[in-house]
Amino acid sequence: MNINTTSRITFGATALALMTAANAASADKLTFYCSAQEEWCQLMANSFQDTTGIEVAMTRKSSGETFAQIKAESSNPRGDVWWGGTGDPHLQAAEEGLTAEYISPMRDQLHPWAISQAESADNKTIGIYSGALGFGYNTDLLAANDLPTPACWEDLLKPEFKGHVQMANPNSSGTAYTTLATMVQLFGEDEGFEYMAGLHANINQYTKSGSAPIKAAGRGENTIGIVFLHDAVAQAVSGFPIVPVAPCEGTGYEIGSMSIIDGARNMESAQAFYDWALSAEAQNLALEVNAFQVPSNMNAETSPSAPDMSQITLIDYDFRTYGSSDTRQRLLQKWDEEVSILPQ
Ligand code: F6P
Repeated sequence: MNINTTSRITFGATALALMTAANAASADKLTFYCSAQEEWCQLMANSFQDTTGIEVAMTRKSSGETFAQIKAESSNPRGDVWWGGTGDPHLQAAEEGLTAEYISPMRDQLHPWAISQAESADNKTIGIYSGALGFGYNTDLLAANDLPTPACWEDLLKPEFKGHVQMANPNSSGTAYTTLATMVQLFGEDEGFEYMAGLHANINQYTKSGSAPIKAAGRGENTIGIVFLHDAVAQAVSGFPIVPVAPCEGTGYEIGSMSIIDGARNMESAQAFYDWALSAEAQNLALEVNAFQVPSNMNAETSPSAPDMSQITLIDYDFRTYGSSDTRQRLLQKWDEEVSILPQ
């Protein structure tokens, strides 16, 4: 309670200083790379611009794609801050020196899991939300195709699901990389890759973005999407016939993260955004756009529709290992060479 009150006062002062600074220098700019859902990215960009007067240019790309872009631009960085997307590529960016150390005055308002992400990476990244992996299915399509109700990861390997399962490509998508890393941690590396190979036989399409498979299921174009549960809940809440499933064997999860790009041209704007994005006020914007992740600020509200993480069997996801440059590159290469090329 004490900590929270103190921190709120700190943010109030910070926000005021920010606004004053913004008024004095209205030419301030921010190039904002966003890897959360498009509507949330837009709202964050617009709200920060309205609050501070700092002009925001936002680009939304998936987590792996944004990592690749920041790496490609590293000799001449164009982005200032990277907000959202799964934590693993943020950790890899930190390890590869692509992002900058920053300790925000907002930090004492965050859950320990958000801070531990920073501690794994010399304070070059931080947790902004969390969410569990799972899948969702379209009840109409399941019934129309006379398919059994899937409850476990193993169920998705059943031959009757051939052509009915969709996931993203783990190279572009953080969701799909989390899926790959989850199977390796849940079943062991050999069995995890066997699982991915078996799943491949049932996959109808690897999409670029992680949430696309459940959006397709919502539209009735796909039966089962392997996604974060909050993305499945978003479809259900929008009225589509989607049921989210927390798989019976247990599952992995993400710590959605934020990092400042090393050599950012607008470093002050990047730090101002970073502080603001960690505030309860900014994190509560999620509620306006059906974003059902669990926020990292202890004072921010979690939607009652958000999946209850305490009711889900979560593995002890090893972010340090699976977010390391060696492991992420090695697993992706192995998936490219041993899974994606298999006949379907
Ligand atoms: O749609 C939102 C979300 O699931 C975030 O929780 C997550 O960090 C991000 O998408 C991952 O997107 P992608 O798989 O496209 O990298």
